[in-house]
Amino acid sequence: MRAILYTGLLSSLAAATQNAQQQCSKLAKKLDIDNATVWFTEYVSAGTNMSFPDAHPTCTQGAVTVGVDFCRVALYVATSNRSGISMEAWLPSNWTGRFLSTGNGGLNGCLSYSDMAYTVELGFATVGANNGHNGTSGAPFLNNPDVVEDFAYRSVHTNVVIGKQISKAFYSKKHTKSYYLGCSTGGRQGFKSAQSFPEDFDGIVAGAPAFNFNNLTSWSGHFYLLTGAPGSPTYLTPAQWTAVHADIMTQCDGLDGYLDGILEDPQLCHYRPESLICPPGTPANTSTCLTGTQAATVRAVFSDLHGANGAFVYPRMQPGTELLGTPYIYFAGQPFPYTTDWFRYVVYNDPAWDPATLGPADYARADALNPSDIRTWSGDLSRIRARGAKILHWHGLQDQIITSEISPRYYDHVARTMGLPGSTLDEFYRFFRISGTGHCQGGPGASFIGQGRSAVASLDPEQNVLMAVVRWVEQGKAPESILGSAVVNGTVVYQRRHCKYPLRNVYTGKGDPKHPDSWKCV
Ligand SMILES: *[C@@H]1O[C@H](CO)[C@@H](O)[C@H](O)[C@H]1NC(C)=O
Ligand SMILES: *[C@@H]1O[C@H](CO)[C@@H](O)[C@H](O)[C@H]1NC(C)=O
Ligand SMILES: *[C@@H]1O[C@H](CO)[C@@H](O)[C@H](O)[C@H]1NC(C)=O
Ligand SMILES: *[C@@H]1O[C@H](CO)[C@@H](O)[C@H](O)[C@H]1NC(C)=O
Ligand SMILES: *[C@@H]1O[C@H](CO)[C@@H](O)[C@H](O)[C@H]1NC(C)=O
Ligand SMILES: *[C@@H]1O[C@H](CO)[C@@H](O)[C@H](O)[C@H]1NC(C)=O
Ligand SMILES: *[C@@H]1O[C@H](CO)[C@@H](O)[C@H](O)[C@H]1NC(C)=O
Ligand SMILES: *[C@@H]1O[C@H](CO)[C@@H](O)[C@H](O)[C@H]1NC(C)=O
Repeated sequence: MRAILYTGLLSSLAAATQNAQQQCSKLAKKLDIDNATVWFTEYVSAGTNMSFPDAHPTCTQGAVTVGVDFCRVALYVATSNRSGISMEAWLPSNWTGRFLSTGNGGLNGCLSYSDMAYTVELGFATVGANNGHNGTSGAPFLNNPDVVEDFAYRSVHTNVVIGKQISKAFYSKKHTKSYYLGCSTGGRQGFKSAQSFPEDFDGIVAGAPAFNFNNLTSWSGHFYLLTGAPGSPTYLTPAQWTAVHADIMTQCDGLDGYLDGILEDPQLCHYRPESLICPPGTPANTSTCLTGTQAATVRAVFSDLHGANGAFVYPRMQPGTELLGTPYIYFAGQPFPYTTDWFRYVVYNDPAWDPATLGPADYARADALNPSDIRTWSGDLSRIRARGAKILHWHGLQDQIITSEISPRYYDHVARTMGLPGSTLDEFYRFFRISGTGHCQGGPGASFIGQGRSAVASLDPEQNVLMAVVRWVEQGKAPESILGSAVVNGTVVYQRRHCKYPLRNVYTGKGDPKHPDSWKCV
């Protein structure tokens, strides 16, 4: 009896798999999409180790093993007679009815396969696209505003419109709710959708957004002018930045009531580097103190950037992030490649443009050019609000690439533009500041908030930004805080609750500081 049941179960499972495979291979014929060429459809069974040999080498796509069965579709979609996107849809057999688009990063050009794996495993019909060009370089933008237009908004929007058609063709029914997950350039893409394509998503998770994009790009490039090349009198060695970091902690770590090397609100830290100036008689090459000239560099790094006639360009780097990431990205005494590429291939269409000449006239030129409104700074979210969609915005407070201080500025800009208090914005737009977290992920704090596949401590909506937005959209329960986890070698070493802006986290002075209840949002 048992053997018969078991055999029956096996054969019905086999039949279901065979059916899914057939559905997948038939999908290409079912699709009738303008301007699209389907490259392939492929049934991927759970546990397949996927590699991406066609990806541009600069995308450095590692292998991904996905834990569920899905149908993979890859296609090319022309967006003009001189541009187009490469996109993929991953359609899980065990579908929740939800649709989701991933985004991109930097100036690339690379599908976010890791995010696609994360969300397809959670049962979303998931799409990703290459943002209109292949690879991490900005060279494909040269003299081609259509490729820039894809990058500014058209790749994500096209991907979503066509991805929804593909999903409907595969499942023979429309999705229930539509979501977005992205960080950095992906965060900007999320806000571009909220501002300009309010129909595309019901729920958006936008991390560390690269909005105010033109000015961000100028700001990213200006650090090289502050530091000069290694050996310049203005340049600090990595050891000196380590000393600066320790001095910042001395001056500011106690502001949140607890000394742990993590600033819960770096905006309150008005660091004074003059305290590190070397006393007379110190050897010139010392690593633990600064010359007056070096102290001026540090002060400029932690000051807002202004342009011609004192115009505000972009906020300061937040203090506290000096040790994170590829060592000292902005402090390495080298031009920042994305800035160089943007000015060479978009602003000036001059591959010989020299990043050492960057200055206020260039900042103004870039912002005035603003191709396809890539600035992404509209404070009017009324159309997406009217649809009842929800936006979860977050930013790591040790972001070493996009200063977290841009995010409260945008939130406040929305409040002023729409003329709404926080209590009303709360109905559709919430912003969380995530302490101890670097650019999109990593960092010494409670940085695991489910923002990506390698930063998941839990699928509980209290602890996972994606599941939090799903619950907000589908059950109307909005997140009040995000419980982050600090994970070391795969083990959660402590958790801390990250507050909704404008609240900030402080230690109550009572109880174990590793316990989230020993802190409160004030
Ligand atoms: C997946 O394949 C790659 C080579 O393409 C290999 O380096 C990696 O170890 C494999 N991963 C697993 C989990 O087997
Ligand atoms: C991008 O790469 C794909 C292969 O993955 C290729 O088919 C496509 O033509 C490339 N697109 C561009 C714009 O070069
Ligand atoms: C297809 O491409 C043409 C030319 O680029 C464009 O005019 C048309 O709107 C596109 N169709 C769709 C559905 O996007
Ligand atoms: C491409 O389309 C534009 C209009 O969008 C037209 O001006 C141009 O001549 C076309 N180029 C080619 C090579 O067909
Ligand atoms: C399908 O997904 C749901 C969650 O969305 C899960 O509870 C269920 O176990 C999954 N079923 C299979 C057969 O994987
Ligand atoms: C600093 O310079 C002095 C004299 O040039 C040299 O003897 C010493 O080794 C240097 N110290 C370091 C840490 O580089
Ligand atoms: C960007 O910088 C320019 C000056 O270069 C300034 O006029 C403009 O207001 C800035 N934009 C934003 C959104 O901060
Ligand atoms: C984590 O693992 C690394 C490398 O194995 C080890 O050096 C480090 O001490 C570990 N940290 C903790 C807190 O266990």
